[in-house]
Amino acid sequence: MDAPTITPRTTIRMASVNIALSLPVSILPEIYRVVVMSIIQDNVFLKIYMVKYGISVRGRFCLVEVLVVYYSRTGRTEALARAVAEGVGRVEGAKARLVRVDYATIEDLVSCDAVAFGSPNYFGYMAGLMKHFFDVAWSVRGKIAGKPAVAFTSGGGSSNSALLSIERIMEAFRMERVCDGVVSSGIPGEEDLEACRRLGEALARAAIERVKVSRG
Ligand SMILES: Cc1cc2nc3c(=O)[nH]c(=O)nc-3n(C[C@H](O)[C@H](O)[C@H](O)COP(=O)(O)O)c2cc1C
Repeated sequence: MDAPTITPRTTIRMASVNIALSLPVSILPEIYRVVVMSIIQDNVFLKIYMVKYGISVRGRFCLVEVLVVYYSRTGRTEALARAVAEGVGRVEGAKARLVRVDYATIEDLVSCDAVAFGSPNYFGYMAGLMKHFFDVAWSVRGKIAGKPAVAFTSGGGSSNSALLSIERIMEAFRMERVCDGVVSSGIPGEEDLEACRRLGEALARAAIERVKVSRG
């Protein structure tokens, strides 16, 4: 899988796609390639019907966007964040958006379908910039209540104090804690990274379930 990138917002909500093209049969292979490429790129599920003189594309797709917002100074939490995003990408219909917290906006938090928060452990607490983000987000708490969320942290030691500081705030915001978070100690090893991938996967599945319920 391609490494997730930090990109501008591209949110596609549940939609019905119904495209019918009538085209000369000679250019069909080219069109087919374009359609398939767009499916792979956006994790969109479409049924493709080939007809004699064209292509008909029909489908309903469900695409959730999972925000992975993190702070990292020396790269360890960022490695965990990338693994969480990879885990999100394992789930059909979900896509991750990786944003360092100093580039994240409150609108990002409101518009995403689920969120993973990552921070280094600083003095037994989350990093100051993460705390600042939460402070500012308090004004939109009504809009993010119920949103699926998880947390992950990196520390020099194995204390879960920073994780708990994030999870307490998730609770104050009445977000839905999907599962236990990940505490990584030192340079993240494969075990930590895989735990983060599973975290992202669980979060994405919860987001899809929530979207399905809310949209009937
Ligand atoms: C100001 C500061 C305070 C820290 N306090 C703690 C701490 O209380 N407990 C701990 O386990 N690690 C502590 N550390 C170590 C970092 O949490 C650790 O190096 C972490 O992996 C860095 O993550 P990053 O690479 O994403 O920046 C501290 C580091 C700094 C710079």
